[in-house]
Amino acid sequence: MDHTCVIGLAWGDEGKGKVIDLLCPHYQQVVRYNGGANAGHTVCVGEQRFGLHLMPTGILHSGATAVIGPGVALDPVVLVDEINGLRARGIHVGDNLKISDRAHVVTAYHKIEDRLSEALAAEGGRIGTTARGIGPCYADKMRRHNAIRVCDLMDSEHLSETLETVVPQRRKLFAACYGDDGGLDLDQVRDELLTAANHLRPYVCDTGVHLRERIAAGDIVLFEGANGVMLDVDHGTYPFVTSSSTGPHGIGGGAGVPGAMVRQVIGVAKAYATRVGGGPFVSELTDATGDRIREKGREYGTTTGRPRRCGWLDGVALRYAAELVGATELGLLHLDTLSGFKRVGICTAYQVDGKTWNTVPADARLLERAAPVFEYHKGWSDDVRGLQSFEALPPEAKTYLARIESLIGCPVTVIGTGPSRDECICRGRRAGPATTAKLTGETDV
Ligand code: IMP
Repeated sequence: MDHTCVIGLAWGDEGKGKVIDLLCPHYQQVVRYNGGANAGHTVCVGEQRFGLHLMPTGILHSGATAVIGPGVALDPVVLVDEINGLRARGIHVGDNLKISDRAHVVTAYHKIEDRLSEALAAEGGRIGTTARGIGPCYADKMRRHNAIRVCDLMDSEHLSETLETVVPQRRKLFAACYGDDGGLDLDQVRDELLTAANHLRPYVCDTGVHLRERIAAGDIVLFEGANGVMLDVDHGTYPFVTSSSTGPHGIGGGAGVPGAMVRQVIGVAKAYATRVGGGPFVSELTDATGDRIREKGREYGTTTGRPRRCGWLDGVALRYAAELVGATELGLLHLDTLSGFKRVGICTAYQVDGKTWNTVPADARLLERAAPVFEYHKGWSDDVRGLQSFEALPPEAKTYLARIESLIGCPVTVIGTGPSRDECICRGRRAGPATTAKLTGETDV
């Protein structure tokens, strides 16, 4: 078993949570290294459905330690809520959770700024953020003046001094830039952060040291990429992206271990494409077929509840993303959603201003003008829901998968055939035993 990264190859919501959950039992450390509460992993364990935002999926497995690395934009209020919610459902949260003292903290004023700046942006120029304060928090991190990290959160006096400077400044800044000071209240911001800090204190440590020690002792690590490669701040459809390095290239900085140790990169995508928020989406279907995919696939955001834009699989973006991250294998989820469609499409090129593109251009305006070149395959009428064997798939579905493999250049090893954990085909890889989530009687933090 190798150190592994699981990463979405599209615009998020690919179903990484399910693949990570299948793999978790083989790994001792499960690490989040980027993004924050903008992410949403849904994991179905039996009848129970867990929606995790900041918490690594490893928390559901008793053999694993869940690690939140320094590259995460950590909203302490959301994390405390998540811990409470898990405990209320009998999931053990204790020394199996480690939070980096170097992670940057998302505060109320980051969330206010996210909302105000989106409201001010012109129609069409809106990123359509999740309003979780991600961009403003990472902007503070790069700006450095008065940014707040988890280690600052642990020092109440220092935290109060910083807030006494920052909060009045932000109020003035917001009023000047957006005509609205956001209703920021110093005492409220301070109390909220200090209360959360007290809850989180037992889990805070130098997670880089922890991971390097555990790796030296033989632990195998699973890195849980959040968001998706097409939302990567450097390589995605900029500026309609998130503010972090979403691929395995984010691991060195975001987890504090050498990224080169990761040998296995599992890229996850759906059998079709979805996107939430603004930005170009060449293979989007704005017709009844797109609506049908949305309803069949229950394509509504885990974090925001927004309806997702749906389209045929974008082979151009998928190959670009797979090559960029060096994907060694592909997880293709939601194959069951496509059952019953007369034909299924794959976008194999973009046409822009008379030119054919086989890769993703840098310029989002150019991408907005791009027309998809679709190739169609015969659909399958048999319901593939719940199938666990590749051989049992209809021949048309096998042909569709083989075409994707040849287009992307890596094998499809995990195929999703339904939402729950066991509705899945694992080719040449062993799924871990059903969840080992430790049930305890704890009810709150
Ligand atoms: P932000 O990360 O909240 O700043 O949002 C930036 C863009 O990324 C928006 O279009 C969001 O909808 C999108 N986004 C961020 N995280 C996710 C995710 O986990 N799934 C899907 N879209 C996401």
